[in-house]
Amino acid sequence: MSNELVEIRDLGRHDGRDVRLQGWLYGKRSGGKVAFLQVRDGTGLCQCVVECSAADAFAVAGALPQESSLAVEGRVRRDERAPGGCELLVSGLRVIHAAAEFPITRKAHGIDFLMQHRHLWLRSRRPAAILRVRHTLIRACRDFLDRRGFTLIDTPILVAGAGEDAQSLFPVDYFGDKAFLAQTGQLYLESACFALGKVYCFGPTFRAEKSKTRRHLTEFWMLEPEIAFAELDDVMALAEDLICHLVETALAAHADDLALLGRDPEALRRVRRPFHRLTYTQAVDLLRSAETRQWLEAEMERDRARLQALADELAGVENQAAGTKKEAAAERLKTRAAELREDIRDLQSDLANRPEHIRLAQSFEWGKDLGGSDETIISRRHDRPVFVTEYPREAKAFYMKRSAADPRVVRNMDLLAPDGYGEIIGGSQREDDLERLLAALKEKRLDPAAYEWYLDLRRYGSVPHGGFGLGIERALAWVCGLKHVREAIPFPRTLGRLYP
Ligand code: 4AD
Ligand code: MG
Repeated sequence: MSNELVEIRDLGRHDGRDVRLQGWLYGKRSGGKVAFLQVRDGTGLCQCVVECSAADAFAVAGALPQESSLAVEGRVRRDERAPGGCELLVSGLRVIHAAAEFPITRKAHGIDFLMQHRHLWLRSRRPAAILRVRHTLIRACRDFLDRRGFTLIDTPILVAGAGEDAQSLFPVDYFGDKAFLAQTGQLYLESACFALGKVYCFGPTFRAEKSKTRRHLTEFWMLEPEIAFAELDDVMALAEDLICHLVETALAAHADDLALLGRDPEALRRVRRPFHRLTYTQAVDLLRSAETRQWLEAEMERDRARLQALADELAGVENQAAGTKKEAAAERLKTRAAELREDIRDLQSDLANRPEHIRLAQSFEWGKDLGGSDETIISRRHDRPVFVTEYPREAKAFYMKRSAADPRVVRNMDLLAPDGYGEIIGGSQREDDLERLLAALKEKRLDPAAYEWYLDLRRYGSVPHGGFGLGIERALAWVCGLKHVREAIPFPRTLGRLYP
């Protein structure tokens, strides 16, 4: 095979020319005297047309299993109807490896099966689209901070003490001493921002979260900027600008991927400055209000109607599937039915939890941290991201600065994403006063000796400073409209999953 090797995404520039592609067989369909091979190479999907006049290739194509690796040669032909806008008229085909029977087929598979085969599932269109958007978000995070003069600081993964709460530490044996996997790079960044002014880290962080929710991973990636000479308002302004930049970048670069994922771009276009701002105390009042109760009950009514509509649609699709004789059409209908069944199951279990969530919200007591369902309610009641600020001291980490106006609360913020996604950013101004910080460590029963180096920052030229952490998987799940963060990372680690 001697023609120029090209990537599928570049085919449009080779219209009318003979080229070579290499990739994997994604799917195929036969039309009697022609075989249509869908070939993917990681950059796109190309329909390769093999006519029976190309006798050798036609015979090979007919018997080739899904996900076999291959090289094909042929002439590029522009065709608006083809996915990607071009197809290839095949003159030669070489099999690199004929695949064994691939476990993931066009049939609908359950999420547990797919997660167990995550190493193969990545080849499907949906995971690939999500990973592309992830790449763009990560790059956009870095570009955004780099352009504003931040310096990247790589913080350690093996650490001696807690950066957040001591309950979620993963212990590691460190030559006979006890060490932990980092929960955050923040404390080290505070040190670095006193050296370089504006700094950030981006790396994996670990939390031994026993919670099995759609928002929790045990290993996740976090972007953490930290700024010297900054107060809470500066930190919030930075977070607001960052989120707007991420959403704009994803919309501009990934319209096709978002459409494939079924994400409504209008919901993302509504993300504009200024974001809503509520104090924790206002958020509690909102949760407990009669108006919220009425709103939640009306929402439950709407969702019950939606459930009925889904059930009706499912019955229709099942009927149609039973009546059709064409195999491909029946398979498509069955896949649709399986999707509908999954939506119905999710909505049913969501509805079953709703009365408890309403009860929790209405009886919320000032002083507790907001729970997942509380965040969902607050974020559903707003059409844009919401900052919730000034939480009670006892609900938050030791390093947050105590408010001068109200010593019961700290100068912190959580940013809740819209559409019920909840917290995607947590940040604060840091306690810069040595005595107050010592008192906070004592309150949280943490050993000051382990934090000597951190306390030093308050001894040598302390200044107001602060920053935040953005969980990439939570942000990506929201941007892509995913139901669960486990789809937002290539190989998720959760309470029940360490494989593959
Ligand atoms: O609110 P968190 O715990 O804040 C910190 O770690 C601070 N040290 C950050 C800072 O100020 N520099 O976590 C920050 C974000 C959350 O808002 C969430 O997006 C994500 O990290 N996150 C998780 N994502 C997935 N799974 C988990 N278990 C997560 N825990 C936190
Ligand atoms: Mg938090």
